[in-house]
Amino acid sequence: MSQLIVMGNTHLKGEIQASGSKNSVLPILAATVMIDEPVVIRNVPELKDVQTMISILQQIGKIVTFKDGTVTVKSGEILVGNVPYELVRKMRASFNVIGPLAMICGWAKVGKPGGCNIGQRPVDFHLKGLEAFGFKISEEHGDVTAIIPSEFKKEIIYALPFPSVGATEQLMATAALMAGSHVIIENAAREPEISDLQGFLNSCGASIKGASTPTIEIHGVEKLHSTDYTVIPDRIETGTYLLGALTTKGDVKITSARPDHILALISILEEMGAGIEKDSDWIRVYWRGPLRPVRVYSEPYPGFPTDLQPVMTSALATVEGTSILEENVFENRFGYVDELNRMGAKIKVSSRQAFIAGVHGLSGAEVTAPDIRAGAALVMAGLAADGETVINNVTHIFRGYEKFQEKLGRLGAKMAFYPDEE
Ligand code: UD1
Repeated sequence: MSQLIVMGNTHLKGEIQASGSKNSVLPILAATVMIDEPVVIRNVPELKDVQTMISILQQIGKIVTFKDGTVTVKSGEILVGNVPYELVRKMRASFNVIGPLAMICGWAKVGKPGGCNIGQRPVDFHLKGLEAFGFKISEEHGDVTAIIPSEFKKEIIYALPFPSVGATEQLMATAALMAGSHVIIENAAREPEISDLQGFLNSCGASIKGASTPTIEIHGVEKLHSTDYTVIPDRIETGTYLLGALTTKGDVKITSARPDHILALISILEEMGAGIEKDSDWIRVYWRGPLRPVRVYSEPYPGFPTDLQPVMTSALATVEGTSILEENVFENRFGYVDELNRMGAKIKVSSRQAFIAGVHGLSGAEVTAPDIRAGAALVMAGLAADGETVINNVTHIFRGYEKFQEKLGRLGAKMAFYPDEE
């Protein structure tokens, strides 16, 4: 099992650059399936999840190169409409190719993603939406097959039961190429990554408006053309390091960032009494004395992001008083709490709420990372703790954080990584 050994008693201090957004680039790469002409995507983070999406594109028949943060996607001879479970299993976002691939091949067969450590995570909204578009959907032997209708309806309105990020992206990208159709997606997710996908698709000639509002309107076009597009900075990565600054009583500045994408976090940091300085493309957060406990609710954007919930817990673990964190997006996202408690935290979970009673300090222990964001939360806690923390299953973290060790090293962290023995 891969391990990270983290030295404690560290105050993270210094300046680092934000990487490109993982959650933006994955659906953008999935949408390139629909584009014949060469597409260039810049500011792409070097991450396992990005490699998985590139493998899927290659498996389908695309020619993909990835060098120095730039991905180029070109069309090969034939496109295959089949994505095996083996690739979908590694990452849920793989399922986002089903709509775009069906638009090109007439049909697509993609492994149905299973549950994961943070909850069941079904894809029913994706499938109901595609059905509302006229697709025929069937499931057999763990695969989902989507077949496009012989003709698309002129007017389609689909209201999502919940503003799912992945389903909004799936439906928006698919509808972009439904020539002659006017599609309205209601109760759409409003995350900045949705606006980024809209920006990318429109730069290829799509006609989409409304991203960042609950209603997205798409006029399908005949063809999408080549583009050269730069993805937005990763707001979750930015938030992780800023919360790391507070967890370790440090001082961190992130450049090439978008503070306007983390306003819900900034307002909680203000409430806690953190030092904050920012401009349009950088933000600095520093510890300037004891922090205050807070009540945080994770919600769809523009609410507090669920992906920052675990790192927020680490930051609150040593804040005097009781903080409450309520998880409203995933049903099972407190799996890491027992690990933090092994390090001396006093956190009780009751249904969707975690009650965090601030302790004087954490102590290093052996813990296991259940998922990407919880892994990062354990690292931040380990840096602040007294002594050494051993984090098992750490490869999760590298799925989501580019140059994780290098960036933390620049902020003064001391860590050693031991990869899987096999
Ligand atoms: C995306 C992000 C992930 C983030 C999440 C919520 C990517 C690659 N991943 O995941 O980091 O934590 O948004 O901000 O962008 N749901 C259903 N049926 C569906 C789809 C979703 O019930 O068909 C439920 C999920 O189980 C979950 C909630 O809706 O409880 C939100 O999920 P969703 O917004 O779709 O998350 P993802 O797109 O998978």
